[in-house]
Amino acid sequence: MTPGSFRILPLDGRDRSGFDCASEALSRYFHAQVTQDVRRRIAASYIALHQAADTIAGFYTLSAADILLTELPAELTRRLPRYPTLPAARLGRLAIDHRFTGQKLGATLLADAILRAAGSEVAVFAMVVDAKDAQAEAFYRHHGFAAYSSAPGRLVAPLASLLPRA
Ligand SMILES: CC(C)(COP(=O)(O)OP(=O)(O)OC[C@H]1O[C@@H](n2cnc3c(N)ncnc32)[C@H](O)[C@@H]1OP(=O)(O)O)[C@@H](O)C(=O)NCCC(=O)NCCS
Repeated sequence: MTPGSFRILPLDGRDRSGFDCASEALSRYFHAQVTQDVRRRIAASYIALHQAADTIAGFYTLSAADILLTELPAELTRRLPRYPTLPAARLGRLAIDHRFTGQKLGATLLADAILRAAGSEVAVFAMVVDAKDAQAEAFYRHHGFAAYSSAPGRLVAPLASLLPRA
């Protein structure tokens, strides 16, 4: 599909059955599970809508999380109080329909998630993702995340390091 402009909005009741990304598990989650997670307040979900085609081109989910202070390197925590955990936002899932990859839409949705977390009335120190495979991990590393934790695939970035400098 040709590049176009996209609108990002909260997941709504529109048809999701045509969404098809490189990960079968993520497509299946988006078809069958995401609305239940939103209804139960397990996750918030946002979609990118291709304006002209009125098609869902991508989605992500965001949830509250916390990370252990000990999971971060000393240079990030030196000036922080010694609380055992720090508040975080978990980017649970992020996927772009294969017809729309390579148009910076993944980066745009990631930036949108970061801004929403930063704008939250609940304090958020960092964003955390659990990358499902090496490719996803490479995507997040490319965007400033790093692996500090012993949990496989877990990548973290302080929100301050992800936000555009004022
Ligand atoms: C990974 C994914 C979200 C990337 O989306 P996309 O819209 O094609 O990527 P973008 O066009 O926004 O890429 C933005 C930048 O990230 C880079 N990038 C994209 N995928 C990458 C990868 N797997 N590894 C490293 N860098 C990557 C691009 O080269 C681009 O770099 P630049 O800005 O320096 O030119 C998409 O391919 C996808 O949905 N994959 C299947 C699901 C998945 O793996 N989700 C992530 C984990 S849950």
